[in-house]
Amino acid sequence: MSTVGKWIIRLFAAVGVLATVAALGFALTGISAREDPPRAEVVMARAARGLLIPASTARARNPLLPTPETLRSARAHWADHCASCHGNDGKGDTKMGRNLYPRAPDMTAPATQELSDGELFWIIENGIKLTGMPAWGAASPEDDAETWELVQLIRLLPALTEAELAEMKRHNPISRAELEQELEMERFLAGEDAPPAPTEPHH
Ligand code: HEC
Repeated sequence: MSTVGKWIIRLFAAVGVLATVAALGFALTGISAREDPPRAEVVMARAARGLLIPASTARARNPLLPTPETLRSARAHWADHCASCHGNDGKGDTKMGRNLYPRAPDMTAPATQELSDGELFWIIENGIKLTGMPAWGAASPEDDAETWELVQLIRLLPALTEAELAEMKRHNPISRAELEQELEMERFLAGEDAPPAPTEPHH
């Protein structure tokens, strides 16, 4: 048999083994997202991700210099779009972040901080298949700039101050019911209305 033929057979055998391991994994552990992903799975998935991000993007350096304006804009953007999973402080300790499979990582920890600017940019723009991480990129110069601002913020997540976190809280999305209750409370405090009834807790 030709060398190419032998390699094709080896390739099919390798794919067969991997598919069997994956099928056995699902058969043994089921498809629930409740269990923490096994360490080996996390390590392999992150290693594969590192290899699959195009090298040219991974090497890219952040073209923006951090200024108070870019960081303020990034904090507002993060609080509005990212905090539901990642938390304002980036630690992933939210109802959604804790229960996704894989979990939203603690982005203040070295595993995230050691990713290059270009890798962070690529992940934000393109998302990560088979995880809760959406693709946010719109491939326009304005959108690229917003993503680079978010990369700046990720570098500073470990050093966010209480005042910055409080300001971010004001940008977190709230439900219509919560908004109405806040408005009612404002009217009540201004002496215009009866005290608001508490809203039902919701998921
Ligand atoms: C619906 C939930 C969700 C939202 C919203 C979300 N992410 Fe993620 N993100 C995830 C999950 C889950 C992962 C982990 C993926 C993995 O393990 O490969 C992740 C991973 C990442 C990573 C890679 C970190 C690492 O160490 O692996 C970056 C960077 C990131 N997110 C940035 C953002 C930014 C910026 C936003 C907002 C524009 C955002 N994410 C919004 C769920 C989310």
